[in-house]
Amino acid sequence: MQKLRIQGGRRLHGTVRVAGAKNAALPIMAASLLTADPLRLENVPQLADTATMARLLGAMGVAVETTEDGRTTLRAGEIRSVEAPYDTVKTMRAAILVLGPLLAREGAARVSLPGGCAIGARPVDQHLKGLQALGADLHLDQGYIVASRSGRLRGARIVTDMVTVTGTENLMMAAALAEGTTVIENAAREPEIADLAACLNAMGAKIAGAGTDRIEIEGVDRLHGACHRVMPDRIESATFLAAVAATGGEVRLEAAAPATLDAVLEKLREAGAQVETGADWIRLRMDERPAAVNLRTAPHPAFPTDAQAQFMALNCIARGVARISENIFENRFMHVLELQRLGARIDIDGHTAVVHGVEALSGATIMATDLRASASLVIAGLVAQGETIVDRIYHLDRGYEAMETRLAALGAQIERIR
Ligand code: EPZ
Repeated sequence: MQKLRIQGGRRLHGTVRVAGAKNAALPIMAASLLTADPLRLENVPQLADTATMARLLGAMGVAVETTEDGRTTLRAGEIRSVEAPYDTVKTMRAAILVLGPLLAREGAARVSLPGGCAIGARPVDQHLKGLQALGADLHLDQGYIVASRSGRLRGARIVTDMVTVTGTENLMMAAALAEGTTVIENAAREPEIADLAACLNAMGAKIAGAGTDRIEIEGVDRLHGACHRVMPDRIESATFLAAVAATGGEVRLEAAAPATLDAVLEKLREAGAQVETGADWIRLRMDERPAAVNLRTAPHPAFPTDAQAQFMALNCIARGVARISENIFENRFMHVLELQRLGARIDIDGHTAVVHGVEALSGATIMATDLRASASLVIAGLVAQGETIVDRIYHLDRGYEAMETRLAALGAQIERIR
């Protein structure tokens, strides 16, 4: 099992080039199923999750060519299989994103129910409810969603019970080839939705309103190939910014998208960081010990749940007391037990964690439990005195390209060990 060894207590300085957004690349790769023409993508992050999606699509018959610089061409000339097997879906829930495209293109899909995951039950009932509204026939068979349609999907007005990111994405992709117009009310407003819509429109779809809570999709008969550049990863950006805000120092993020990070940048300024932005760059400078900041996670444009764990690490060594309310997932505080091993003072009361900032953390061996928790533990290790070993960092590799190499380039003493 791979681990990271970190000698903490060093201020960080330098420049980081932000990678393409994992949570935009995954639905966009699935969108390749909607046409037999090649979909040419740039800025696809080289991650465990994008590799899993490429393998899944490859097993369906999609020709996937990836080059080192993040260029990926996908061509679903003929689809040989409509199945997303349990083994794949259980390791990456985003595999559910092939359901809508397969149903729209092939008229059939057999996708394993994701099952629970570390951060919560994460059901997909809204995906299924929306696809049924579009005319799909769905039933469960031995843990698999078996989907079919008699004739073309038909446009409908869909109101989701709660804001769901991949739910909105699945429905948008299915509706793109439906007969007539679909309206998704209560749609997720995450920037990755707008990025997917931009790619679909480049493929010939007619989607308006992506990025707002009302998306209108006018179905078309077919989609064609396109070229699309995946947007910058806002959560990776938030992670690096929180790390330098915690250690102190200065960092410049390049190839970034500051306009997608308003809530995060506001909290960093509230913590005492100096933050400047340009069209595609963000510069943060932190000279003193951060001030505690209260957080309430909520759908975009509010503070993102995917940055909650990283900002909890920042609050662990801040001046004052922070209240963190996790309102999206029911079990996204697993990093707390590990942070406490480093000396953090955190009390959990249901969906709220109260963090009493301490002067210093001290290194220990800790264990990652999920993707964003692992980033939180790395940040805590960077500020802790002495040596910290973070175990099970395969979680980290799911969502961050060579995190330790990029942190070492900023002056962190961090290395990957067996
Ligand atoms: C996406 O997950 C992201 N993943 C998650 O990022 C992110 O945390 C989440 O959105 C919230 O922003 C990808 O985009 C690949 P949801 P998703 O459907 O779509 C409930 C990361 O770290 N819900 O928006 O699965 C659900 O249980 C990952 O990169 C239902 O009840 O999240 C949750 O409580 C982690 N029924 C809430 O809604 C449904 O049918 C939001 O879930 C769908 C969702």
